[in-house]
Amino acid sequence: MAVRTVLRLGDPRLRQRAQVVADVRDPALRQLIVDLEDTMAACSGAGLAAPQIGVPLRVVLFGGGGPNPRYPDAPPLPRTLLINPVLTPFGPEREEAWEGCLSVPGLRGRVPRWLRLRYQGIDGEGQPVDRSVEGFHARVVQHECDHLDGLLFPDRLSDPTAFGFIPELEAAGLIPAVPA
Ligand code: NI
Repeated sequence: MAVRTVLRLGDPRLRQRAQVVADVRDPALRQLIVDLEDTMAACSGAGLAAPQIGVPLRVVLFGGGGPNPRYPDAPPLPRTLLINPVLTPFGPEREEAWEGCLSVPGLRGRVPRWLRLRYQGIDGEGQPVDRSVEGFHARVVQHECDHLDGLLFPDRLSDPTAFGFIPELEAAGLIPAVPA
C-alpha cells in the first residue's frame, strides 16, 4: 500500500496544468497508478486525479467498488484509469448537482456540468478508452479532468451561496443526509 497525502485547496500544486503522459510503460507511471488506487480506496473517493497526490501528469482514476459511502445515491461507475483524457460535450445541455472533492474536505457545492459527453484517452495498459456517457458518470469525468487543468469545483459554482459544509447543508435539507 502506498496511500499518499491528498493535497488540499490552497496548495499551489493543485493549480498547475498537468503534463501529457509520454510513455505508458514508464515505471514511475506504474507506481503512480498503484498510489492512485490505494489512496482513492483509503479515502472512499469517487475519483482521484494525479495532481491531487502531487504528481503533475494527466492521469485520473474513478469509479469501481460498488456504492460509494460518500455518495450513496450515485450509481456505481466502471473502474476507469484514464490517461491523457480528451472530453467532447454532446449538445448544449447542462445539469446542476452537488459535488465534493477530497481536496476540499467537508464541503459541497452546486456545480453545472455538461449532461452528455464523449471521453477518450488510454488506460493503464495503453489500450484506447472511448465512451459516451451522461449524468453522474459525465459529471465525475468532468470533475476529475478539471484537476488536470488546475481547476477545482468551487471555481465552477452555479451560485456562490450554493456552497457549504456538509452537516449544515444536510440540516438545511439541501443535500441528502449520509447514513452513518
Ligand atoms: Ni476532486
